[in-house]
Parts: sequence; C-alpha cells; structure tokens
Amino acid sequence: MQGKRIIMASDHAGYRMKEYLDDLLTKQGHTVIDVGTYSENPVDYPDEAYLVAQGIYDREADVGILICGTGIGMSIAANRYNHIRGALVLNPEMATLARKHNNANVLILGGRTTDLETAAACAESFLTAAFEGGRHEYRVQKLGRMNHDFEK
Ligand code: RB5
Repeated sequence: MQGKRIIMASDHAGYRMKEYLDDLLTKQGHTVIDVGTYSENPVDYPDEAYLVAQGIYDREADVGILICGTGIGMSIAANRYNHIRGALVLNPEMATLARKHNNANVLILGGRTTDLETAAACAESFLTAAFEGGRHEYRVQKLGRMNHDFEK
C-alpha cells in the first residue's frame, strides 16, 4: 500500500486510540499529522473536528481520522463541513464501503466503543479501499449540494 497523508485528532476519550493508530500507521509508512489532543485532559470534540476539517480543506492530508468516546460527537461535528464526508464505522466492512460507496474522506472511530485491534483493521480497510464511482458518483455529488437551513 502506498503511504497516505493522514491528519488525525481526538478528544480525551479517543486519545489512547489516536496514539495507538498514530504509531501503527507511521510504522506502516504513512505520514501522520497529529493535531491533538495531546493528553487525557478534557477537551471539546467540535474543536478537534475543526482542526481535521481545516487540514483536509487546505490539502495538508489526503484523509482524516477522528476519534471521540463513541465517535458520534465527532461524526456530527465533522459532517457540518461541506467538504467532509465523515464515516463512523464499527467494523472493517463498513470502513471499506465508506470509501467504495460514499467516498468518505474522514474515518471516525469510538475510542470507548471499539477495541484497538478492530480500530486498526478499520483503518487498514479505509486506507486501502478506493471509491468505485459509477452509480455512486452522482449520489456523492448530491451530498455536496446539500447545504440547507430550514426556515422557522
Ligand atoms: C466525552 O466524555 C464524550 O462525550 C465524547 O468523547 C464523545 O463520545 C461524544 O460524542
């Protein structure tokens, strides 16, 4: 597998998993940009999601990884940015399909809900699978046009 540029962040609940994946993915030949957090002191997941969204927007990295306790907060936060397609995944199959069908550019994991071995397998699947395009292309394009605020 060719090394990818990966930007990673977590909150305190995802810190341990982030450190583990940073080390593993670096050893596998990827270039990892770790934008925090750097300890288990409490921080707010929207602030960490923003840093990854910014890095992807600035093309500092090809893909991102975000980790909080369940992955849910990171998922909500990351997907508020129109250029982010963040996928909260629980197993390698979901990680593969997130790339193949959704062209996801951010992998989202739950540090308290997924074990490290599964997280590593999810990362490997996410980093090796490619977007299939075809019938999935126009659906993903539709996502890019979805930016609605409902009026009261
Ligand atoms: C932090 O305690 C926890 O709420 C957060 O990591 C995340 O799980 C939120 O979705």
